[in-house]
Amino acid sequence: MKSLLSETPNAQAGEKGMTGETLAIRGGRPLTGRVEVKGAKNLVTKAMVAALLGETASTLRDVPDISDVQVVRSLLEVHGVTVVDGEEEGTFHLDPSGAVAAHFEEIDAHAGASRIPILFCGPLLHLLGEALIPDLGGCRIGDRPINFHMDALRAFGAVVDKSYEGIRITAPGGLHGANIDLPYPSVGATEQVLLTAVKARGTTELRNAAIEPEIMDLIAVLQKMGAIISYEPNRVILIEGVDTLQGYDHRAIFDRNEAASWACAALATDGDIFVGGARQQEMLTFLNVFRKAGGWFDVREDGIQFRRGGALKPVVVETDVHPGFMTDWQQPLIVALTQAEGRSTVHETVYENRLGFTQALNQMGADIVVHPQGIDAPDRRVPRRALEQAAVITGPTPLHAADVEVPDLRGGYSYVIAALAAEGESTVRNVGIIRRGYEKFFAKLDALGADFDVVD
Ligand code: EPU
Repeated sequence: MKSLLSETPNAQAGEKGMTGETLAIRGGRPLTGRVEVKGAKNLVTKAMVAALLGETASTLRDVPDISDVQVVRSLLEVHGVTVVDGEEEGTFHLDPSGAVAAHFEEIDAHAGASRIPILFCGPLLHLLGEALIPDLGGCRIGDRPINFHMDALRAFGAVVDKSYEGIRITAPGGLHGANIDLPYPSVGATEQVLLTAVKARGTTELRNAAIEPEIMDLIAVLQKMGAIISYEPNRVILIEGVDTLQGYDHRAIFDRNEAASWACAALATDGDIFVGGARQQEMLTFLNVFRKAGGWFDVREDGIQFRRGGALKPVVVETDVHPGFMTDWQQPLIVALTQAEGRSTVHETVYENRLGFTQALNQMGADIVVHPQGIDAPDRRVPRRALEQAAVITGPTPLHAADVEVPDLRGGYSYVIAALAAEGESTVRNVGIIRRGYEKFFAKLDALGADFDVVD
């Protein structure tokens, strides 16, 4: 068995050597057992930023030990926020009372590590009148521009200067409420508006807002702090700015992306996995597709059990904003679809480059054809986006071992489960990236009976 060395993600945040870890995986064994999911990466990191807005300290519970959290913690710390681990595992106490401007070099040390720094803009402008943003990181799954963020900040009265170092944002006349209509219901841009509008002078109306459960949880955090935010029909959010906010005490919503990933691992490896902490409500769309693909699940009070319900069946899936099928779910699902009898299609409509990971699955014996311009289909529910792609997966194809390199977080997870489903010993390189979003990843694989070694 494996040495579970370097499971701590902070080691992998900045040091190149640590992100290049390699797994030798011997496949052909079903994953069976129980895993627990904690708070959602895509809420926790934002709630940590929200703590900057409070006059008093905040407590955040169910924080997963992942490298994205470490990056945000470290960025808060360079801005003078004290972050202390609470007694209960996964609890942070965040005290912003000593918040100060950070030196550009300190901020820049986080360049390329995560996309969350951009969400510091509004809180820092309220606190200090200035924000410096390093080059942004995150998964390379498309261009990932920040134009919606910058346009929204300008609408609040901010001035954006771009230099070769990064972006400097100031608010000479303070920030005022704004009318903002997003060109697309972007998760990050919606969070940007929320974190800025809560303390801007006057009312902000945000149209075409993202309404993902993690956004609703961020609204709940901000409401606990004293914000006045109402969620209206048709993707409209109204925010009445207030002068002061207090700290919050909040238990983060569970990570539905991680839950869906383990569900797909059960499907792909013909295993049986109980995901503790998973809830049905936020996974309705996923569960429908899971069932149509031949999966069986049992919703219990403390989690959801996932396994096959018979032979796997092909499905047609279109990724979308909430309440649609999340883009983060398609990569692990595609691994399972390689084992379904017939032809499945996955239309990726959120990111323009999130199907590149399928090349490595083909190397392992899958039959996946990517259509870089997408496929027109008259019965599509969502209007076609200019940049979308489609993957056609024909199965079942036995998977065999290969030597593959992880390209991004969800793609990387998919390679690991493909290797676990394949015959023979695979080498999966660069697995450090996976722990940006999956807590105790090696320990969980181990608990589920995976046969692997950490070789580098
Ligand atoms: N977009 C723009 N301009 C902008 C912002 C976004 O054109 O200024 C476009 C993007 O290029 C993309 C689309 O809008 O095509 C959606 O991007 P969005 O802003 O919604 O995504 P995000 O906030 O950058 C978050 C999650 C992603 C998740 C997406 C969609 C975090 C840290 N990341 O990204 O999570 O896929 O929402 O739900 O919350 C992951 O967890 O692996 C991950 C990539």
